Amino acid sequence: MKLIVTGGAGFIGSSVIRHAVARGHEVVNVDVLTYAACLENVASVSDSDSYSFEQVDIRDRAALDKVFEKHAPDAVMHLAAESHVDRSIDGPGTFIETNVMGTFHLLEAARAYWIAKDRPEGFRFHHISTDEVFGSLGEEGQFTETTAYDPRSPYSASKAASDHLVRAWHETYGLPVVLTNCSNNYGPYHFPEKLIPVVILNALAGKPIPIYGKGENVRDWLYVEDHADALLTVLTNGKVGESYNIGGENELRNIDLVQMICSILDEKRPADKPYAELITYVTDRPGHDARYAIDPTRIRTELGWRPSVTVEQGLEKTVQWYLDNEDWWKALQNRDGVGQRLGKA
Ligand SMILES: NC(=O)c1ccc[n+]([C@@H]2O[C@H](COP(=O)([O-])OP(=O)(O)OC[C@H]3O[C@@H](n4cnc5c(N)ncnc54)[C@H](O)[C@@H]3O)[C@@H](O)[C@H]2O)c1
Repeated sequence: MKLIVTGGAGFIGSSVIRHAVARGHEVVNVDVLTYAACLENVASVSDSDSYSFEQVDIRDRAALDKVFEKHAPDAVMHLAAESHVDRSIDGPGTFIETNVMGTFHLLEAARAYWIAKDRPEGFRFHHISTDEVFGSLGEEGQFTETTAYDPRSPYSASKAASDHLVRAWHETYGLPVVLTNCSNNYGPYHFPEKLIPVVILNALAGKPIPIYGKGENVRDWLYVEDHADALLTVLTNGKVGESYNIGGENELRNIDLVQMICSILDEKRPADKPYAELITYVTDRPGHDARYAIDPTRIRTELGWRPSVTVEQGLEKTVQWYLDNEDWWKALQNRDGVGQRLGKA
């Protein structure tokens, strides 16, 4: 298949591209290259004849039309977004512009192209979203595909809005869409402002490891390579108009996750004292959701997909990757806002 992947210079999009090219797909990476982008993430495939790059803003409809006309894709995998909750607290405007308006322009460009091609049945618009659209859980329960939306941060509200647009374009115009809502990803090429890389890099630098609030917030952790595999499974085998929740089957409190990373580092790169002694509790994020948990029954039973690694295995690989790829993360540490406490409101 020929795929347009938006946000392909980001964390998850680049993993999707590496997997898609390895599986014989042709890929066009559409990315405007914000502070969160890094073309190094796709360096392993950038010389391939199956890969091309278009530096385009998804808010620019005319530029999107040209990309569709030039590349004539069989499918769109839409990952481009502003993705950091803390940044959405400080500056929600960009999140609305990119995640809502950008998705609108992309849907319209895809619809115009699909109509011009006589509405091919096999065309797919795959919208990649988050479990954060469902809000916050108590100690019990899991998010299913029919859980009511209840977003609580500017980020999750903008993603929820984009999900609604995608469903509406299917119901109203018949655009063949699939949606996925997944839990927190981690793994190689994770931008150094997100929790897991912050923990690894602060520990290695001997700096305090910040934990928001009491560290009791619970997240389900999904290894990014497993997510890319799940996304390609949904793209090729998912039912049109359907959404699929994707989880790692690994629920952990933040404090337990951080302790686990510290123990892995104690073994791999011993310091003069245990890394866990660097853990420092800091003011909580405003509106910090207590718990997210995914019920993965649909993707498991309908598409036969399950994650391939446990969180212990995935974290071990991730820590090793950061130890082996210092040049990659060092180059990103002077990007705007990285290393600063954002989103205190
Ligand atoms: N990271 C997670 O844990 C997670 C979990 C669930 C869902 N998601 C969703 O997956 C997608 C990818 O997340 P990520 O963590 O890889 O994000 P990321 O921030 O690492 O990458 C986003 C990419 O989108 C590009 N981009 C941003 N605005 C753009 C615009 N206007 N036009 C074109 N490109 C633009 C950026 O340059 C960047 O390369 C997002 O839609 C996010 O909501 C992420």
